[in-house]
Amino acid sequence: MTSNESGDGTKNKPASRSGSTSGHSLEVGNRTDESPKRYAIEVKSLSKRYGEIEAVKEVSFRVDQGEVFAFLGPNGAGKTTTIRMLCTLSKPTGGTAEVDGFDVLRQPNAVRRHIGLVFQEPTLDQQLTAEENLRFHAVLYRVPRHQVEERIDRVLKLVDLQARRKDLVSTFSGGMARRLEIARGMLHTPAILFLDEPTIGLDPQTRALMWEDVLRLRSEEGVTIFLTTHYMDEAEYADRIAIIDHGSIVALDSPNNLKKMVGSDTVELVTADNKLVGANLEQHGYNIKVGEDNVTVFVENGEEQVTQIIAHAQVAISSVRVHRPDLDDVFLHFTGREIREGHAERAFPMHFMAFRR
Ligand SMILES: Nc1ncnc2c1ncn2[C@@H]1O[C@H](COP(=O)(O)OP(=O)(O)OP(=O)(O)O)[C@@H](O)[C@H]1O
Ligand SMILES: [Mg+2]
Repeated sequence: MTSNESGDGTKNKPASRSGSTSGHSLEVGNRTDESPKRYAIEVKSLSKRYGEIEAVKEVSFRVDQGEVFAFLGPNGAGKTTTIRMLCTLSKPTGGTAEVDGFDVLRQPNAVRRHIGLVFQEPTLDQQLTAEENLRFHAVLYRVPRHQVEERIDRVLKLVDLQARRKDLVSTFSGGMARRLEIARGMLHTPAILFLDEPTIGLDPQTRALMWEDVLRLRSEEGVTIFLTTHYMDEAEYADRIAIIDHGSIVALDSPNNLKKMVGSDTVELVTADNKLVGANLEQHGYNIKVGEDNVTVFVENGEEQVTQIIAHAQVAISSVRVHRPDLDDVFLHFTGREIREGHAERAFPMHFMAFRR
């Protein structure tokens, strides 16, 4: 879409100008930015204060179109609060945010038309079939009647649930229900899909399947995905990760770049003579540390270099361990502590926000 396509049909006046015509908000559907590059999400100094609690503190970030972008953080970090502001369910107390080019404060209806949302809590009607749940949503979102059948087929296929379309949701596993919710979030062809802890409480295998679905949505429907998680392993799937802690973004980059910031790979050797090994490796130019029980070698690519390191050690080796920084190390590095799992595994009472067109 171009920046002139309003989605609202008749209104063509840029929102940035319309906003100055009156003291209160006059919503129009035009996107607010006129730059050639339009981000799926652009957030500047966004804040949310609840009395004494600063749930979100001046966060700024941009999400590219078609990107899978993850907010990674522990309980209470401000993930849901940020999603709520981006989805127009909660008003920021500071800063600005544009979603698909629309301002969340001045153009909430336009934002809502362009997003899909799967909340932390499940909200399917257990007493309806998968298909009935989708039909209900199609009415709420005013999916044009002639498109409903095609979209239901399409989204069920995307999450591999065609065979269960006539079954009651009450007979679904937790993972299947969650996948149906994602399908429902995609029914009205949103430009951006928000997923708040999409895999919470699911087993690792189901989480991996869910990720296949999510990445398929991106590749086949071109949707931008903004998700929150406190699972390190699943944040790896994202193109970029913002680590959020106590309401602030403490690091933002691709998983690989974040790991590189933390440090190099290490190869730990336990040998018959650690001092001698240290001297031998130093002679070959390795960056090493000799400890009481082992020798640590700091290298760019531990797995590739381990054979050569052993050859250069020239002493009997009793054990070798290669460690590459993972996101746990990244989190520890940027926050000074490990991510708290705590009560995040609990089953949540759920609700679902339905937006009307
Ligand atoms: N409606 C509210 N009123 C007062 N404080 C709130 C409200 N909503 C959230 N908070 C507070 O804001 C902070 C951030 O909460 P938020 O729900 O955004 O965290 P989260 O990162 O989504 O955590 P979780 O992983 O547990 O879902 C917390 O301290 C929370 O208690
Ligand atoms: Mg949350």
